[in-house]
Amino acid sequence: MVELTSSFMLDYETLDRDHQRLADIVNLIVGAIDGDEGEKCEDLVIDFVKSAKAHFAKEEALLAKVGFPNVKRHHDHHESLNFKMEHLIEFAKNAGDNKLARDSLRKELVFFLMDDIITADMDFKNFIEKKSNAEKT
Ligand SMILES: [Fe+2]
Ligand SMILES: [Fe+2]
Repeated sequence: MVELTSSFMLDYETLDRDHQRLADIVNLIVGAIDGDEGEKCEDLVIDFVKSAKAHFAKEEALLAKVGFPNVKRHHDHHESLNFKMEHLIEFAKNAGDNKLARDSLRKELVFFLMDDIITADMDFKNFIEKKSNAEKT
């Protein structure tokens, strides 16, 4: 199970809420794998990928709005994840009757969430923190 502790928070509510939602879906998938319900993985992973893509678009729009200078770089990072998401869906399709696919899915998915989604966003944490503090004063 993954848990988003405070060090993984951006302290920016809409984005943190999205990240939590993605973590919740990952935990459902891990739960399905551990509970021998691999056949549930495909729908859940498709939901995860859709939610992740919607989140990326929302996040990029927000970064552009607040004037984050490296928004293009972060957009390119999100784009570079498409290939990995295709792989996750492939593993999920085979998760029902293939142990290797289930094991790969669990491992890749947790890394994907924690490294490619959550940790990569630390790139702009300081920037939006300063922005929202400036707005409060
Ligand atoms: Fe991001
Ligand atoms: Fe994000």
